[in-house]
Amino acid sequence: MDNNYTTYDEGLMNSVATGRAWRALIAYSEKNKSVHMQNLFARDPDRAKRYSALFEDIYLDYSKNRIDDEGMSLLLDLAQECDVAKGIQRMFAGEHINITEDRPVLHTALRNRSDRAVLVDETDVMPAVRKVLSRIEKFSNAVRGGRWQGHTGKAISDVVNIGIGGSHLGPQMVTEALQAYAQSGLRVHFVSNIDGVDISRTLQTVNADTTLFIIASKSFTTQETMTNAHAARDWFLQQGATEADVARHFVAVSTNRNEVARFGIDTDNMFGFWNWVGGRYSLWSAIGLPIVLSVGFARFSELLAGAHAMDEHFRRTPLEQNLPVILALLGVWYINFLGARSHAILPYAEHLRWLPDYLQQADMESNGKQTNLHGSFVDYQTGPVLWGSPGSNGQHAYFQLLHQGTHLVPADFIAVVNPSHDLATHHELLLANCLAQSEALMLGRTLEQTTEQMRADGYDDDTIQRLAPHRVFDGNRPSNTILLRQLEPRSLGSLLALYEHKIFVQGLIWDINSFDQWGVELGKQLASEILPELNEGPAQGRNTSTRLLIEYCRSQTDKKH
Ligand code: F6P
Repeated sequence: MDNNYTTYDEGLMNSVATGRAWRALIAYSEKNKSVHMQNLFARDPDRAKRYSALFEDIYLDYSKNRIDDEGMSLLLDLAQECDVAKGIQRMFAGEHINITEDRPVLHTALRNRSDRAVLVDETDVMPAVRKVLSRIEKFSNAVRGGRWQGHTGKAISDVVNIGIGGSHLGPQMVTEALQAYAQSGLRVHFVSNIDGVDISRTLQTVNADTTLFIIASKSFTTQETMTNAHAARDWFLQQGATEADVARHFVAVSTNRNEVARFGIDTDNMFGFWNWVGGRYSLWSAIGLPIVLSVGFARFSELLAGAHAMDEHFRRTPLEQNLPVILALLGVWYINFLGARSHAILPYAEHLRWLPDYLQQADMESNGKQTNLHGSFVDYQTGPVLWGSPGSNGQHAYFQLLHQGTHLVPADFIAVVNPSHDLATHHELLLANCLAQSEALMLGRTLEQTTEQMRADGYDDDTIQRLAPHRVFDGNRPSNTILLRQLEPRSLGSLLALYEHKIFVQGLIWDINSFDQWGVELGKQLASEILPELNEGPAQGRNTSTRLLIEYCRSQTDKKH
């Protein structure tokens, strides 16, 4: 650590918010907070050419943001002051930047397509990474080719991935995103929730003798996953299979060999990864097995290559042209200087429907932090509430608030230029809606324009006076637009790496550890305490609210079992 503050006060005194760049941004924001984007475009007609970038087949337009060259340069000063460039190098160099767990952060090694060694505590991890990839390739080819058979000699028709959080959201999102590349005849299902509905309704749709279960858990101790995994195995045995048949139908993806063996899965059928891969950054590891089974190893390799291309861009490009850095700084601008508290992810692509859920974990579990790297509470806002869903559905639900609500909600519109289907009219409508929404958010409509429009539509003066204020849009609502030429494995890989690195850069600026997740622990601990109390009654000392809730559940439980 460069600055080793040992006390709370020292940490606060050295807070990024006391720095020169931060203070300059506050002054700039006070001067410029009411500048309308319309004026920025009027002053600088070529703005969109300069505030955009092409990365391979991905076009990023960030011109619809409430910032000009002066603001961008102050944000870049902030990045310099926070030593972002050094932070990036430290991550790629395998330093233990996850300080609370004393680990390096090297998901980038999983997609390293170069000959470069990646050192973890002086050992090159690339041979081990390649070895697992090659096992995955062989195994997935055997399953997809019908050579890996179930216990009755039939080919596998269904894969059920049982995992949660990072062992679920990434694989589910990518498998759905790449549906156009999926092998027909092999269905991939995802079970995560501890609500028994999830596993039981999935099991109703599959046959035991043609189903392969992947038990995906970095720790192999996660309560939800292990409970679902046991339920799947019990069901499998109830369908007439024997213990000896489990090996043909259950494989594990984990870092915990002992627990995998204890569960009863043959460790020859285990695909490993490493503790320097965070759960929410693990889809590039063996956790991606359901993706490989769905689209094949060659496509998965393209996904990795796309992510690697973005990694190279991220580590080598100067900050002012570095796409993850630019997106990160724009996010910081809204959160810390214009008061935004949330950020919307709006994929205008049905195949990207799980992207907001996936990014929710990636962003909120990474940057939902209150303590800086030196152990002090931060005195500024950190990661936003991230949310969203596919367009155009959202337009008929929450877009009202985006356009006329009182909250500032920066948004990312993500669309695909060439669809994977032949319904050209549908696709043109989808794209037109996407582009129209970001334009409407930016431009808005003044009272004068509204009045004029209503007059042209034939309204009388009284009605205009009464209704026009409700029809005004103040506009000036920021967004980025990301256009993928096509939703392909490579471009998807680059897109996901773009977001991963954006999150990391924000963590560097906020001086927090983006790679731990202590905030999930307390709830887990309390759930184990409360579990027996549902039968035995609340423990002494439990607060009245939870006590009454437990008692209500106990009194109303139907004693069927
Ligand atoms: O509870 C949060 C979490 O630890 C996530 O960080 C992780 O992705 C998820 O649970 C699942 O963990 P595992 O892969 O160890 O089952």
